[in-house]
Amino acid sequence: MTGELQCGYCTPGQIMSAIACVKEGHANSEADIREYMSGNICRCAAYPNIVAAVKQAAPEILKG
Ligand code: FES
Repeated sequence: MTGELQCGYCTPGQIMSAIACVKEGHANSEADIREYMSGNICRCAAYPNIVAAVKQAAPEILKG
């Protein structure tokens, strides 16, 4: 997920939230992902890439 971000300052929180987002079943659409991840602020505004990364990683996260 590192290539999706810019400065990386928000990366740890984004990753932790992304895992929970998928495991708790909130990654069924981009709108779902955006809503669940909305508490994670990214000062670089890399949100489109973060959403894309969550979608891409979701199958692997679910595999465990
Ligand atoms: S990538 Fe810089 S704060 Fe998110």
